Amino acid sequence: MQTTSFSIAARLTAALATAIGIAGAAQAATLTISCGSNAADLKFCAGFAERWGKANGHEVRIWSAPASSTDNLALLRQQFAARSSDIDVVMIDIVWPGVLKDHLVDLKPYSGGAEARHFPAIVANNTIGGKLLGMPWFVDAGLLYYRKDLLDKYRLAVPKTWNALAAAAKQIQDGERAAGSPDFHGYVFQGKAYEGLSCNALEWIASFGGGRIVDESGRITINNPRAAKALDTAAGWLGSISPPGVLNHAEEDARGIWQTGNAAFMRNWPYAWSLAQADDSPIKGRIGVAPLPVGEGGRPAATLGGWQLAVSRYSQHIEAAAALAMHMTSAEVQKQRAVEGSYNPTLPALYQDADILAANPFMAELLPVFTDAVARPATVTGLKYPQVSQAFWDASHDVLSGKRSGAEAVKRLEGKLRRIKRRGW
Ligand code: GLC
Repeated sequence: MQTTSFSIAARLTAALATAIGIAGAAQAATLTISCGSNAADLKFCAGFAERWGKANGHEVRIWSAPASSTDNLALLRQQFAARSSDIDVVMIDIVWPGVLKDHLVDLKPYSGGAEARHFPAIVANNTIGGKLLGMPWFVDAGLLYYRKDLLDKYRLAVPKTWNALAAAAKQIQDGERAAGSPDFHGYVFQGKAYEGLSCNALEWIASFGGGRIVDESGRITINNPRAAKALDTAAGWLGSISPPGVLNHAEEDARGIWQTGNAAFMRNWPYAWSLAQADDSPIKGRIGVAPLPVGEGGRPAATLGGWQLAVSRYSQHIEAAAALAMHMTSAEVQKQRAVEGSYNPTLPALYQDADILAANPFMAELLPVFTDAVARPATVTGLKYPQVSQAFWDASHDVLSGKRSGAEAVKRLEGKLRRIKRRGW
């Protein structure tokens, strides 16, 4: 039933697109789209893309992108440097438009104005020099996942501050270990030296009122006591409520521990909701989602993340690739990805959709977390963002691993950022 209505819809879309002269439906093409590599990505990216290909007479191939955003970018930069036509539709991180701008096609001639229906801030993020370099696909913000059953068992409230989180995590960890679960941990997050740590560390720092590393005017703000305090606070979790292994954890490592029932709290993105609530999940029905805790004197802060679909300038089938990107970012596909995969839509209208909200209550309850999310300084630092982020995650990793104090790390980082900025951002 679903397949039938989907393919009818897909055919209608194709017919309409042909009628307004934007689709490459008339000429069969072999298109490659980059999709994430975990099971959910395959189902919700590859699945939809392949169905669109069949309905439109194109062959769609999948390029399985590395799970880490950092590795993914490195590989794409190699592809683009070689002007390779291997990938047509590219999934790009919200922090990449400024980095990849010279390699991406302006989608405006192909969008039929569809971007006007997406969150304006994301469209603005993806628009450089008047060119729309990516269609918004899904939006992310850091969330605190907690075990409802364990908070009840230990008579604890959902923690609102980092201190309360540390205390609750410790109490639950001690209790569960004593009850025969030696591998149980209080809190898991992304502490590996990569882009995900930049997202976590920005949340700690912003939630302590320590700014955003580089402000919107391009001024380096990281060397301040609140930022140092935030990093020191996180370092205090290591070996106490978080396993030392967290220093090497990305999203899926944290989710692995959490979903097998071995953590009380986890920081992760929305995609982890549908997986933890799946029928085969040991913690199904026992979890909740809340805003991340606040630091002393700070305000709640979730890092803004998310992905866009772009078209490579070196594609040999730009029109067909653009049509695929438009289809994948349409309300119809975003709705199914939200209902089944808990990917937050980039279309405000879908936040009123009863099916989406029934499957993901947090999307409505935590709407301000998404609308007020803190952006990484990618727009202002442009091409230099990867260097800025690497310097930031290295500094944060040094503090987490006990190599340096927060104060030393932010001072050193300021010097590094000044050198990176030397000839301007
Ligand atoms: C998520 C976010 C992305 C971020 C990445 C870091 O995929 O959507 O913006 O860069 O995590 O690991």
